[in-house]
Amino acid sequence: MEIRTLTTPQELFSAAAEEVVRAANEAVAARGRFTIALSGGSTPKSLFNLLATNARNSLPWDRMFFFWGDERHVPPTDPDSNYRMADEAMLSKIPVAAGNVFRIAAENPDAAAAAEAYEQTLRKFFALEPAQFPRFDLMLLGMGPDGHTASLFPGTAALQEKSRLVVANWVDKLKASRLSLTLPVLNAAACVVFLVSGTDKAPALHAVLEGDAPGDQYPSKLIRPVDGKLIWIIDRAAASQLTSGN
Ligand code: 6PG
Repeated sequence: MEIRTLTTPQELFSAAAEEVVRAANEAVAARGRFTIALSGGSTPKSLFNLLATNARNSLPWDRMFFFWGDERHVPPTDPDSNYRMADEAMLSKIPVAAGNVFRIAAENPDAAAAAEAYEQTLRKFFALEPAQFPRFDLMLLGMGPDGHTASLFPGTAALQEKSRLVVANWVDKLKASRLSLTLPVLNAAACVVFLVSGTDKAPALHAVLEGDAPGDQYPSKLIRPVDGKLIWIIDRAAASQLTSGN
């Protein structure tokens, strides 16, 4: 595990953009394509903006394939939609073919059916054997103030899922379903990058990186790539309760 502590959010987003550029060009050179699962929420928006502007000419867009690590159970036009955020911040500004973007169809009122549909999309794209998990070149993750990641919230059923790729996860505190890749998929990635910025994340980051609470209380603790890199790109504010001098 690697922890990179940047002084400001701006530096954090630049470091994250550099990591995406590195991973994308390495994957395309090695395998002819780059698969990335995007995180949602607000943090990655600045990264997506950077990728579509400053880093625009450093990326092999036509060989990049976009997925989502999770999605709210809302239509793609909803202000809460992770797809909408990524589309507004990046996808609508770059020459990426619609066929390279694999949105979670979260407009389906049946969340379980939406999860199953996305699971089939992944199985087909990655040409998976029945018990195989997709290996994303890059899994972008954020972390909530409660230590959740993707839509794997503390104490929720999805944390126990060991075989499905995608689940509908009821989150009681939100009184809503979320659609999420499961832990086996997150941990199958070749490289997982957490982006964590801001003082509000400091207590959870301390608990995740240095505490001894169980993983189901801080699901970000459960992210341990089986055969891949784990990089935390954090800023000083988020790192402010770490004792290890980050
Ligand atoms: C989501 C995300 C989620 C996010 C964290 C952090 O759908 O909300 O995928 O896991 O990464 O909640 O969100 P912020 O970046 O908004 O703090």
